[in-house]
Amino acid sequence: MIFYFSGTGNSKWVAEEIARRTGDEAQSIAGLVKDGPTVVYAGADACIGVVFPIYAWGVPLIVERFCKSITLAGAYAFAVCTCGDEAGKAMLRLKKSFAYQGAWSVKMPNNYIAGFDVDSPELERSKIAEAKKRLDTISNAVLAKSTVYDVCEGSGASIKTALVRPMFNTFARSTKRFSVESSCNGCGLCARGCPIGAIQMQNEKPVWIRKHCTQCMACINRCPQRAIQMGEDTKNRGRYYFKTDSLT
Ligand SMILES: Cc1cc2nc3c(=O)[nH]c(=O)nc-3n(C[C@H](O)[C@H](O)[C@H](O)COP(=O)(O)O)c2cc1C
Repeated sequence: MIFYFSGTGNSKWVAEEIARRTGDEAQSIAGLVKDGPTVVYAGADACIGVVFPIYAWGVPLIVERFCKSITLAGAYAFAVCTCGDEAGKAMLRLKKSFAYQGAWSVKMPNNYIAGFDVDSPELERSKIAEAKKRLDTISNAVLAKSTVYDVCEGSGASIKTALVRPMFNTFARSTKRFSVESSCNGCGLCARGCPIGAIQMQNEKPVWIRKHCTQCMACINRCPQRAIQMGEDTKNRGRYYFKTDSLT
């Protein structure tokens, strides 16, 4: 079984592609944990994978918590992160709670529009073309139950993961920064698509009912009206959501 968390579709696609190539199944972590804590037991014959995006050179909290609920009783385990550029020491930290044999990073289009603009269309296309090749390599290694650590950590990885990640988790996950413009037509896609149920439609407008969220950027990137903003900067930035037509 391959468990994934995904805000804007990159990690979902990666998980589903590895599942397709290895004859496995992909399941959403958000879907599993929405009704409460889970327990996963993986015995000696099992193969278990987790796929997720990198947030601030770390593993999203929802994924970290889910991994702690997995008991690896001799199963082959692997982890794949998707990232715009680099993962820092996120995967090494994850190993403390999820003792995988295989770990990979896959570069995918950047979705963090609170911090940066989206990648250019050319860069998006080239990242996805490279990712497709990488998925063959990863899938073959998973089938062979290989022990691999092939992660793009980037420069200053230890410092970034040790310092920026906790600051992000403490200060940058507030939902206060989201605002909604009058162009919102109340379609409710943001509320339906929020993986942690942090948005409720009230009087046909989204209201963030939790103080903190994962900052997965699904709501802001997916809004067809571009009506959701985070401060002023996102007004002039693009939006990104993985689409299967990016594959052609
Ligand atoms: C809050 C946040 C923080 C991010 N931090 C990083 C980072 O530290 N390094 C990086 O390379 N990409 C970073 N990204 C980009 C995502 O990891 C990347 O776009 C990922 O593929 C998105 O996956 P998804 O579509 O499955 O949500 C960040 C994205 C978000 C939303």
